[in-house]
Amino acid sequence: MRLSRTADLWWKNAVVYCLDVETYQDALGEGCGDFRGLTQRVDHLDRLGVTCIWLMPFYPSPDRDDGYDITDFYGVDPRLGTLGDFVEFLRTARDRGMRVIADLVVNHTSDQHPWFKSARASRESPYRDWYVWADEPPEDGPKGVVFPDEEKSVWTYDEEAGQYYQHRFYKHQPDLNIANPAVRDEIARIMGFWMELGLSGFRVDAVPFMLETDGQADAEKLPDPHDYLADLRAFMDRRDGQAILLGEVNLPYSDTMAFFGDEAPELTMCFDFIGMQRLYLALARGDVRPLAGALAERPAPPKDGHWATFVRNHDELTLDKLSDDERQEVFDAFGPKEEMQLYGRGLRRRLPPMLEGDARRIKMVYSLLFSLPGTPVLFYGEEIGMGEDLSEKGRNAVRTPMQWRPGPGGGFSSADPERFPARLVPGEYGPDHVNVAAQRGDPDSLLSWISLLVERYRETPELAWGELTPLDSGADTVLAQLHAADDGAVLTLHNFADEEIEVTLRLDRAHARAGLIDLLSDGPAGADAEVSPEGEATLRLAPYGCRWMRVE
Ligand code: GLC
Repeated sequence: MRLSRTADLWWKNAVVYCLDVETYQDALGEGCGDFRGLTQRVDHLDRLGVTCIWLMPFYPSPDRDDGYDITDFYGVDPRLGTLGDFVEFLRTARDRGMRVIADLVVNHTSDQHPWFKSARASRESPYRDWYVWADEPPEDGPKGVVFPDEEKSVWTYDEEAGQYYQHRFYKHQPDLNIANPAVRDEIARIMGFWMELGLSGFRVDAVPFMLETDGQADAEKLPDPHDYLADLRAFMDRRDGQAILLGEVNLPYSDTMAFFGDEAPELTMCFDFIGMQRLYLALARGDVRPLAGALAERPAPPKDGHWATFVRNHDELTLDKLSDDERQEVFDAFGPKEEMQLYGRGLRRRLPPMLEGDARRIKMVYSLLFSLPGTPVLFYGEEIGMGEDLSEKGRNAVRTPMQWRPGPGGGFSSADPERFPARLVPGEYGPDHVNVAAQRGDPDSLLSWISLLVERYRETPELAWGELTPLDSGADTVLAQLHAADDGAVLTLHNFADEEIEVTLRLDRAHARAGLIDLLSDGPAGADAEVSPEGEATLRLAPYGCRWMRVE
């Protein structure tokens, strides 16, 4: 209905799906996922209702950080296929009406990148100044390594260069010098290149680190990094006004806002890391207040911008913005064993095992994801409830191959599993129990549930576009919200407790006598209700139940 009107700002009610080509589908039988395999699976994504595919890095790479260590920004890793395969995939996705974005990882390169090899070899190299060097690590330089288990400092001395170089991430990922105009131009060229091939924008990796210039000589004389991000956005908009920048900015809300841009637009969307962390705290407590609090605190994005919401991603489930006690509560509830935790700040787990496979709870969480304001971003495998493999190292626990059907290769590949980039999840969350084929025909499966949520979310623009009013449910275990837009309103209810409950909500008088139509179920739990002449509605919720209701 009204979707046609929203299509100009397509990202506002998109369904984004993140995947790694390497672990999605192997078509060539070599044990590694590839673009040809992904192309065969585009119809799975189409059926699910995905409108935008986010590709994790697929560029040539020594693969020491799952491809986030790039040696050529203009190519496709030969393990994944050719540039021709990439374009065929893109064309297939676009044929199904899906847009494709990809990781733009320009905070750093691999230390094997020809630029860095040249830079470290000589002070005269034209690439020397593409990286950040110092004779001694500066006092006022950036503080804090991102991977504290592996790195002790953001500076590493390079024998060949005779200087220290800066790296926020692993030492094999030297930081690019964003203050250098040549680097800035090159980043625009990289974006222009992939956009010309058909990408609709980028997920921008590590944005605050990328813009960092602290501690560099004459830092105060350097151009404002935010101006640069705005320039980059303007460049992108000139090339394609429909393209987006979806940024990884894990900062408190007030600091994140700067990345949407102040005077000129910068990022189109920022991930809501705070809301995500508070969601887990709320789940752990069986009390909606931490989440409700985050939503109340969350600043409104600029008019054409949006928050991007998510339950899990390819990294650890970071809980770094919770207090120590709060984090401990989440650890106790969802990852009590040390092997489940990472860097002291997060969990290397997927949602279903954290919730002990409780289908009611898992379904409730995804109902939240699709009903909270913001653009939902799924990580591959979430649609079927994949689990993690704790025997994999670090963050790789959640980066196992996609599970398409039962059997030894899980439908991912016909090759000897020894050759897979990671082994398939073993045990009760493995492909024999959790896979696309079995869930497709099962109306009670998570896949069917998420497909339904996607469909309703797309049909209900109030969720993405409407104004959110929190309603007092009278219970700390129930989140009740009204999503209203000019011509419609939708009520959503989520029960965080393992108990049936009846709540009475007070709606605006304007809604008196309105009918309430369940959008997610037409079974007995979804008996239609009505708003009383006084504007009240009394509604039942099953244990861990959720309801979306159109206010007629
Ligand atoms: C981002 C990515 C992470 C990667 C890091 C370095 O945080 O999400 O996976 O390791 O950047 O590129």
